[in-house]
Formats: sequence, C-alpha cells, structure tokens
Amino acid sequence: MPKLKPAELILALDVDTLDSALQFVNKLYPKINIFKIGSQLFTAYGPRIIELLEQKGAEVFLDLKYYDIPNTVAQAVAAAARLKVKMLTLHISGGKAMVEAAIAAAEAQAKISRIKRPLLIGITVLTSRDSTAQEVLNLAKSAIGWGLDGVVCSAQEAVNLRQEIQKDFLIVTPGIRQTTDSGDDQKRTATVKEAVSAGSDFLVIGRPILKAENPLARTMELLGDLYGTRN
Ligand code: C5P
Repeated sequence: MPKLKPAELILALDVDTLDSALQFVNKLYPKINIFKIGSQLFTAYGPRIIELLEQKGAEVFLDLKYYDIPNTVAQAVAAAARLKVKMLTLHISGGKAMVEAAIAAAEAQAKISRIKRPLLIGITVLTSRDSTAQEVLNLAKSAIGWGLDGVVCSAQEAVNLRQEIQKDFLIVTPGIRQTTDSGDDQKRTATVKEAVSAGSDFLVIGRPILKAENPLARTMELLGDLYGTRN
C-alpha cells in the first residue's frame, strides 16, 4: 500500500530527569514535533511530563507497552486518551480481546472528550528477544485485522510487512542510525533513508540525538536525510 503522508522523526526521551527532558524539547521542538515518553520518565513524573510537553505544542507518543487483562488495558488506554497523547503502544500478544477492548476504550473516550482518538500501535516481538520474520508477520497481521492503527518493527521487518499486508497501516521503526553512528545495543539498525524506503511512517531515534555533542545540529542532519528522501 502506498503511504499517505511523509515519514516523521520521533525523539525517544530516554533521560533521567524532567529538566533534561524539557531541555531537549525546548531545543528541538518544533524541528521535532513528537516526543516518546517511556516507562523511565513516566514512572518518575507521571502525567505532568505529558502536560508540560503538550503545553509547548509538542505531541506525545506514550510508550508504556500495555499488557494486562482487557479491562485493565482499556482503562489505561482511556486514561491516556484523556491526556490527549497522539499515540500509544500495547503488546499484540495480549490477544484479541485485549486489543479490541483497548480500541473501544480509545474511541469511547475520544468521543466523550471530543478529541481525536490516540493511534494504537502494537508491539510485535521485543527486539531484545529472538524472533522469526514469520512470528512478527503473524502478530502484525492479527493486530491490523483486529483494528490496531499500526505496529512497531525494524526496517528489515517493515519491508516484509508492507509486502504481505495489503492494508493501510502505520509502521513505527526504532533503531535509526546514521552510517557513522554506533549501533549501541540495537541489533537491527537502519538509516533514515533505509527505514523510509522500507515503508516506515515514524522513525524513533534516541541516543544518536541525546548523546550528540550538538543535538540540534544532529537533528538537522537527520531531517536533511528525511527530506532528501522521496517518501
Ligand atoms: O537510543 P535509541 O535510538 O536506540 O532508542 C530507541 C528507542 O526505541 C528506545 O526508546 C527504545 O526503548 C525504543 N524501542 C526499541 N525497540 C523496540 C521498541 C522500542 O528500540 N522494539
């Protein structure tokens, strides 16, 4: 399926303190519009961090990878929708009932709050675990069939999913590196150009920007790669 919109960069705010997170946002928004908040920052600061980012105009990708009984996940998703996050993650292996309950809760809350419902993005298999391409494909197919908006996967997996799943869905790809970067602990990295041509819609990048001597200059380079890519 052709993509409808150009790909976007997301900065993974994997930092320890609220101050440090806000410094990155102040420096990089609106060059980068979407910031990923994971369990590290959310556990320390809760909804406040989301509200602070939104007050600045930034959008939030809440990456808490929900996995629980359907009712619990549905309530968590409704709470995230009340915080007006743009997108959030949940584990596809939580099953059909959990995923469907999450979608229904997001829709119901969006109606009540009169907002756009958050995009629900499924985790296939964590990259820290061994997995086969078939396992990732099966989970992604199920998730899209159940109504999730998209999945998280590597650029390598994205190529296969775009070929095998003939539906419009979003692909979120972490592990983005420039050719001169260290891969850190990422096993399957890709450049911006590779991820975009593989069919990714959102490119999640953390350490190459967070650890750069000049994060803004590094962001501009990555955006240059992104805009220089026909997508
Ligand atoms: O620092 P780096 O660019 O490797 O950061 C990648 C981000 O994407 C981290 O926040 C990591 O938790 C997240 N992520 C990942 N692999 C997945 C899912 C999320 O690296 N499969």
